[in-house]
Amino acid sequence: MIELTVNGQAQRLDAPQDMPLLWALRDLLNLTGTKYGCGIAQCGACTVHVEGQPARACQLTLAEVAGKRVTTIEGLHPEGRHPLQLAWIAHQVPQCGYCQSGQIMAAAALLRETPRPTDAQIDEALEGHICRCGTYQRIRAAIHHAAANS
Ligand code: FES
Ligand code: FES
Repeated sequence: MIELTVNGQAQRLDAPQDMPLLWALRDLLNLTGTKYGCGIAQCGACTVHVEGQPARACQLTLAEVAGKRVTTIEGLHPEGRHPLQLAWIAHQVPQCGYCQSGQIMAAAALLRETPRPTDAQIDEALEGHICRCGTYQRIRAAIHHAAANS
């Protein structure tokens, strides 16, 4: 039995120690906002926060997150109205949308540490977050928008 906190709720999971956190979130907890893109830490679609830091859920086992606080896109704001989520809507950022929860989670971690990031800081924080639809310009604009409105 693995115990952890997900989006503020204590969870006890009857699952193998080596199950990837991403599998547990999606298949056991039905938190499907976090996406499976590559499974090998190359795309960023599975990004969540672990103890407030961005982390790729496909690369963490349940044993590694036991006792820790995990936040997914569903837990970013109780009503889905985090400044980044509002900015994403204002700028119509997503195209297919598949990469976007990972992009937003990475951006949320950035803004917590750096409330007014430069373009270079945004590019650095979101490096390795692949968007096959090429929404990078809108992502950057939305992060600046959120920074100005939070
Ligand atoms: S699914 Fe985890 S980085 Fe791609
Ligand atoms: S919006 Fe389609 S992959 Fe990013």
